[in-house]
Amino acid sequence: MSVGSILILPGDGIGPEVMAQVRRIIDWYGEKRGLDFDVSEDLVGGAAYDKYGVPLADETMDKAQQVDAVLLGAVGGPQYDVLDFSLKPERGLLRLRKEMDLYSNLRPAQCFDALADFSSLKPEIISGLDIMIVRELTGGVYFGEPRGIFGEGDARYGINTQRYTVPEIERVARSAFELARKRDGRVCSMEKGNVMESGLLWREIVQKVHDEEYPDVELSHMYADAGGMQLVRAPKQFDVIVTDNLFGDLLSDVAAMLTGSLGMLPSASLGAPMENGRPKAMYEPVHGSAPDIAGQGKANPIACILSFSMALRYSFDLGTEADRLDAAIEKVLADGLRTADLLGQDGVQPVSTAEMGDAILAA
Ligand code: NAI
Ligand code: MG
Repeated sequence: MSVGSILILPGDGIGPEVMAQVRRIIDWYGEKRGLDFDVSEDLVGGAAYDKYGVPLADETMDKAQQVDAVLLGAVGGPQYDVLDFSLKPERGLLRLRKEMDLYSNLRPAQCFDALADFSSLKPEIISGLDIMIVRELTGGVYFGEPRGIFGEGDARYGINTQRYTVPEIERVARSAFELARKRDGRVCSMEKGNVMESGLLWREIVQKVHDEEYPDVELSHMYADAGGMQLVRAPKQFDVIVTDNLFGDLLSDVAAMLTGSLGMLPSASLGAPMENGRPKAMYEPVHGSAPDIAGQGKANPIACILSFSMALRYSFDLGTEADRLDAAIEKVLADGLRTADLLGQDGVQPVSTAEMGDAILAA
């Protein structure tokens, strides 16, 4: 019986290389665990442009709307820099996010103990770290109107508008509280209500959703700048952090780097529940297409594999399987296996993308 449907969009550069390892893990689940996924594959980004002349074909978009989970590799590459803005590979990604209305962006920052000395922070500050940043992804200052550059010459001025409606705040707050229930039961909401009215509204609505629907979850509030300081001072105090698009962009990048390499960072973007109760969902590594190492078998597949682990957890309700997959990755790292991006110690020989995949499958 099929557990559910997955659309794989490997994309460009190292995208197809890291996704190939995920593909092997998906096949393994079918063969060894009787968990069959209904998998289809298509093109996005430069790969789609090369074949269809657009970074995302309408048919691919339709398919993405229907599956339980989209798994995306990465898009982009220097050969596409000359293209018109509307044809750039990134537009394919943005179209998916926008048309699927993926308003809740989940960025975990999790420290694998074997990599604790890889962080710029002291090992005792980050070892055992496991936090989740929920960033609102479809609203706020990146989308608010009016926007633009107006006026002439030195009298020009630039405008962007931070705008949040009550339903926009409510739905991302719910998403954070639901996650907290599956985790440590704590949410910290971050805004700057001291200087921004949109932040005042944010705080009020998050508190209301909490009081009315999630009183069992522990809720705290913090100004986002103070939150940034706390993230590098004592990150383990947090479980789930929920914040807007702009602050989430910054804070999730800061939190991510607490744990080391870009090659280790997964993400999920979730939307409203579909008819079957599962949220619209896209899972992707945080990193890009890494043209500097593409085609060399050097890429670290773990970010992409951890993204699939998030799909198991949040789309397919297979949390135990996700825990096992995470544990396999932990074990392989503890055994000392390192792709080139994770090297630090002398004398360790890097393994290839496929060798890392082999080891994780074996574990
Ligand atoms: P990038 O994330 O592709 O690479 C930054 C650095 O990290 C490079 O040195 C790369 O070799 C390394 N790196 C990234 N992922 C790695 C992995 N899995 N294993 C080992 N090393 C890894 O960001 P960059 O160089 O700024 O952008 C390259 C292209 O990717 C551009 O076209 C950019 O627009 C696109 N991009 C796409 C994203 C996406 O698809 N979500 C996100 C970020 C950039
Ligand atoms: Mg960013």
